[in-house]
Amino acid sequence: MTLVNANGASIPSLGFGTFRMEAADTERMVSHVLKQGCRHIDTAQIYGNEAAVGQGIKASAIPRPDVFLTTKVWVANYGRDAFLASVDESLKKLQTDYVDLLLLHWPNTAVSLEEQIAALNDVAKAGKARHIGVSNFNTTLMKEAARLSRLPLANNQVEYHPYLDQRPVITTARELGMSITAYYAMADGKVLGDLALQAIAAAHQRSVAQIVLRWIVQQGFVTLSKTVSEVRAAENAAIFDFELSADDMLAIATIAHTNGRIVSPDGLAPEWDVLG
Ligand SMILES: NC(=O)c1ccc[n+]([C@@H]2O[C@H](COP(=O)([O-])OP(=O)(O)OC[C@H]3O[C@@H](n4cnc5c(N)ncnc54)[C@H](OP(=O)(O)O)[C@@H]3O)[C@@H](O)[C@H]2O)c1
Repeated sequence: MTLVNANGASIPSLGFGTFRMEAADTERMVSHVLKQGCRHIDTAQIYGNEAAVGQGIKASAIPRPDVFLTTKVWVANYGRDAFLASVDESLKKLQTDYVDLLLLHWPNTAVSLEEQIAALNDVAKAGKARHIGVSNFNTTLMKEAARLSRLPLANNQVEYHPYLDQRPVITTARELGMSITAYYAMADGKVLGDLALQAIAAAHQRSVAQIVLRWIVQQGFVTLSKTVSEVRAAENAAIFDFELSADDMLAIATIAHTNGRIVSPDGLAPEWDVLG
């Protein structure tokens, strides 16, 4: 396991995601992966499974300080009072006094970004979030959020996989000292049938899932992966004992195409950056 350091945060580079997971699966898998050595769990208010994540962490018996725990404030809670109350509710469900990283889940204009960022900062100042950041922000919003924030922003969590070129967001994150966390690394399963990726996987005697997760981590980013299977969780965790060559890295980067984005919900998605 490696760490990604950004603006004061040290984030384990492989996190276990819990999106689209029922409570029972969440509790079972969170406990399981922690016992197997994972130290980074990702959830969100909107996933409806923070209580199961809390139970899973407790059941693992791994000390809370050893776990890097992220949750995300949902857009309906961006008004100041709702924001603060929702974070308290999240902490109660997670059975903890703090999260390691608290993110704004999507951009939203119903409440000013200034108010959202002020609430995020105040939660951190109160000791309820060790680090703060954003998710699904484009480069303009990243710069604006960083300008408005008294505390440094540690992370932007975005869709990232071999079909989606995220160079604008990556460049801006570097300029701002922020880390990038990749979600949908497997492009919602699409990478698994990719012939070019299968060839690289065969050459390394690895699975396509491992190649894709390794490709993200080897670039210095954090990646998330979710599974309800103990076998697939073990497979996804075994990405720190091999290296992709420079040619492999480049070959995977060239798979991206202009229609590669999968997650762009109406009413939430910002105007995405276009490649210059
Ligand atoms: N910030 C955001 O807006 C946002 C949006 C989406 C996701 N996320 C975060 O990112 C995490 C990852 O995204 P995700 O859960 O949708 O996608 P993912 O990790 O890319 O996984 C996609 C699917 O691939 C399957 N899978 C996992 N490992 C596999 C393997 N080794 N071989 C074959 N199939 C495998 C899983 O199904 P099985 O469970 O059946 O194995 C899973 O449903 C989420 O859980 C969430 O924490 C954040």
